Amino acid sequence: MATGGAFEGRTAIVTGASRGIGEAIAIQLRDEGATVFSIDPLAPETPQDGIRYLEGDVSDAASVETAFAAVDAATGRLDVLVNNAGIQRVALAQNMAHADWRAVIDTHLTGMFLCAAEAIRRMRPRRKGAIVSIASAAGIVGIPGRGPYSAAKAGIMSLTRVLALENGTANIRVNAVAPGFTRTKLIEQGIKDGSIRSEWQLERVPMNRLAEPSEIADAVLYLASDKASYITGQTLVVDGGWTVQGINHVPDWLNADLSEG
Ligand SMILES: NC(=O)c1ccc[n+]([C@@H]2O[C@H](COP(=O)([O-])OP(=O)(O)OC[C@H]3O[C@@H](n4cnc5c(N)ncnc54)[C@H](O)[C@@H]3O)[C@@H](O)[C@H]2O)c1
Repeated sequence: MATGGAFEGRTAIVTGASRGIGEAIAIQLRDEGATVFSIDPLAPETPQDGIRYLEGDVSDAASVETAFAAVDAATGRLDVLVNNAGIQRVALAQNMAHADWRAVIDTHLTGMFLCAAEAIRRMRPRRKGAIVSIASAAGIVGIPGRGPYSAAKAGIMSLTRVLALENGTANIRVNAVAPGFTRTKLIEQGIKDGSIRSEWQLERVPMNRLAEPSEIADAVLYLASDKASYITGQTLVVDGGWTVQGINHVPDWLNADLSEG
C-alpha cells in the first residue's frame, strides 16, 4: 500500500472492478493509499495486488448487504463508494425482451440505489463520505438500441442530484462521471457483435480517439477526493467533446480562414 496518498487510511468500495473502468478506478484508489474492495459476480481476469475481491451482484439486495457486511468486518469504515458495475443489451424497444430491459435497469440504476443506501447508512454517523457513480454520455444524447441503458444512465444522474440534496448537511458528497466511448471489453463486445462501429465513434468525437479507462478513473478520483470538497450533485462529462457538438464538421471556408490567421 502507498503511503501519503490522497486516500491514505480510507476504505473504498468499487462495484464491478474485475475489469475495465472499475479495475482502473480500483488500482488508482489503491495507489493513493485506500483499502479497496470490489463487488463483482465475475472473478478478476488479472487479480490486482492489494484489491479485495468480493463476489456479489449489485442488483440483488441480499447480495449487496452481505458484501457491505464483509467490508464492515474487515475495516469498520466506509469513505468512498464508486458505483461502476454495468452491462449492455442492444435492441430496438419494440423487440427488446422484458428480461433484458430489467437486467440493464436493475444492474445500473437499482444497483446504484442499493449500494448508495448501504453506504449512506454507514457514512452519516461519521459525517463524511463520497459517492461517485458512472453514468454515460448515452444518458445525455440518444443512441438507438440502447433504451434501458440510456434511461438507466439518465436515472443515475438524476438520483445523484437527489442523494446530494438528501445528504448535503451530513457532509456526504454525491457526484457522477459520464464517460464517452472508452476502450474496454464492453466496447470490444459491441464492435465484435456489430452494434458499434469504431469509425462511427471516432467520427463523432472531436478529440478523435477513445478514452482510456485510466482517464475516466482520474475524474472519479478527483470527485471522490478532498480536492472536490465543495462539489456535490454534479455530473462530470468525460467524453472527448462528443456531447457538446452541434455540427461535427468545420466547413472548408472556416478552415481556410483559420490557416491564414
Ligand atoms: N466502455 C465505455 O465506453 C463506457 C462508456 C460510458 C459508460 N460506461 C460505464 O462504465 C462502467 C464500466 O464499464 P466497462 O466498459 O468497464 O465494462 P466491462 O464490461 O469491462 O466491466 C463491467 C464490470 O461490471 C461487472 N458487473 C456486471 N454486472 C454486475 C453486477 N450485477 N454486480 C456487480 N458487478 C457487475 C462485470 O462483471 C464487469 O467486471 C459501466 O457502468 C458502463 O456502463 C462505459
